[in-house]
Amino acid sequence: MATAVDSHHHNVSVPSSSVNRTTMIFSVPNRVGTLSDVLTVFRDQSINLSRIESRPSMAKNDFYDFFVDIEGTLEPHQNETVNGALKDLGVILKGDSILAQPHKKETESEMIPQTNFSYFSVPWFPRKLKDLDLICSKVLEYGQELDADHPGFKDIEYRKRRVLITENALKFRHGDKLPHVEYTKEERETWGVVYRKIMALLPQHVCRAYNYVLPLLEQNCGFGPDDVPQLEDISNFLQGEVLQIECTGWRLKPVSGLLSSRDFLNGLAFRVFHSTQYIRHPSQPLYTPEPDCIHDILGHCPLFADPDFADFSHEIGLASLGASDEDIEKLSTVYWFTVEFGVCREGTTVKAFGAGLISSFGELEYAMGLDKEKPKLLPFVPEVAATTKYPITTYQPTYFVAESFQDAKEKVIEFAARMNRPFSVRYNPWTQSVEVLDNKQKMSRFIKDIQTQMATLNAAMEKFIV
Ligand SMILES: [Fe+2]
Repeated sequence: MATAVDSHHHNVSVPSSSVNRTTMIFSVPNRVGTLSDVLTVFRDQSINLSRIESRPSMAKNDFYDFFVDIEGTLEPHQNETVNGALKDLGVILKGDSILAQPHKKETESEMIPQTNFSYFSVPWFPRKLKDLDLICSKVLEYGQELDADHPGFKDIEYRKRRVLITENALKFRHGDKLPHVEYTKEERETWGVVYRKIMALLPQHVCRAYNYVLPLLEQNCGFGPDDVPQLEDISNFLQGEVLQIECTGWRLKPVSGLLSSRDFLNGLAFRVFHSTQYIRHPSQPLYTPEPDCIHDILGHCPLFADPDFADFSHEIGLASLGASDEDIEKLSTVYWFTVEFGVCREGTTVKAFGAGLISSFGELEYAMGLDKEKPKLLPFVPEVAATTKYPITTYQPTYFVAESFQDAKEKVIEFAARMNRPFSVRYNPWTQSVEVLDNKQKMSRFIKDIQTQMATLNAAMEKFIV
C-alpha cells in the first residue's frame, strides 16, 4: 500500500528571508492523502511554507512527525491566517496537539519548545458528506445485540434477521444505493398495526406540516398500511428526485445501531438522517425499547420534507460540528425536546411534531392533555431546554412549545452563536461540505455569495411586482 509519506525525509528548501516565521510541529498518521490534506490547509490560507520536513514519529507507531516553518507570526495583530491554519490542522489531526512557536534558528533537535507555544484541540468533525462513512462504522451498540428485557431477546429467528439487516447497513458507503429490505409478512403486519393507529390520531394531535406531507409520501414513496417504505425511495423523495417539485435536499443513511450523540448530530449538519431498517418484535407491535424503522420512518422522515423543519434540524447539526462535549450534551437535549418530543403552537391549540410522540400513542394523548395527569408546557427557549433533565423510560413531565419551526430555528442559531466554539461554520450547498469561517478570505467570499443572492432576489422581486 502506498503511504502518505513515501520517503523518510522531505526537504523543501526556500531561500530564507527576513519575514517573521512560525514553526509548527505535529504528528500525522501514515495514511494515503493525509499529507495532501495538511498541505491544502496552508494553501487555503495562502500561507507560504519555507520548510517542511518529516520523519517517523518516535512517540507514535505508524505516525510521522512534521516540522513546518511558515511565513507569518502568532502575534495577535497579524495572526488570522496562522491561527486559521492551526484550527484547520486541529480538525484534520482530530484533536491531536499541534505545537506552534515563533521560528528560531536552532536545528530541529533543539526545537522542542519549552514555553511560548499554544495547544489547539478541536474534536474531529466531518467536512464532506463522504466523511460520514467514518462515523457509520462506530456505533455504540449494535442493533444485533439485544438486552435481556427486549421482547425479541429469546427469538433466534428475529435475532438472525436483525443481523442480516444491520450487516447491510454496515457495508453501506456514501454513493451506494440504500439497502433494499424485503419485509416479511409478519413484519409488514407489525408495521400495519402501528400505521393504522397513527393515522387515526394524526388530524387531531399532530402538526399541520406532518399532515400535509404524509399523503405526498403515500402517493410517491410507498407509505401505507401494507408495507414498510424503502429508505431509498424516501431519500430520493427528500432529494427532490421523485416529484418535479422542490424538496429539502435531506437524505437518509442506514445505520446499524445506536450512534453517539456527537456522530448523530454531526450527520444532521449534512442534511443526513441516520435511520434504522430493522423492525420491533411482532409480539408487541405498540412497544419498542429502542428506535426501529417504524419510529424512524413514520416518526422522523415525513417532517424532513418540510422546509422549515429541515432547516431547523440542519442548524442543530451545524452547531454540533467541533463542539465541546458539554455543548454536545446541551444540543442533544435540545434535540430531545424538539425533534423527539417537541410540540408546537397552532392557533389556540398545541400539536405534536416530535417523532417520539408521533410514534407513541400513549404519550401522544398524555402530552395533548387528555390524561388525568397533565404535563407541564413551557415556551421553547434553547438555554432552558438544554439544561432540563429528562427521563427516558417514562412519559416526559415537561414539553417545550415551539411557536413555529422558523422561530425555533432562529432561536437555535442564536443559541449556537453563544456556544463556546472558537469558530463558525457554514454549509456550502453546492459542494455539500462544511466550511470553517475563520479567516478574512473565507468571510469575504461568503459576503460576495450573499451579495449575489441578494441581487438575484432583487431581480426576482422586480419581475414579481410588475
Ligand atoms: Fe428518534
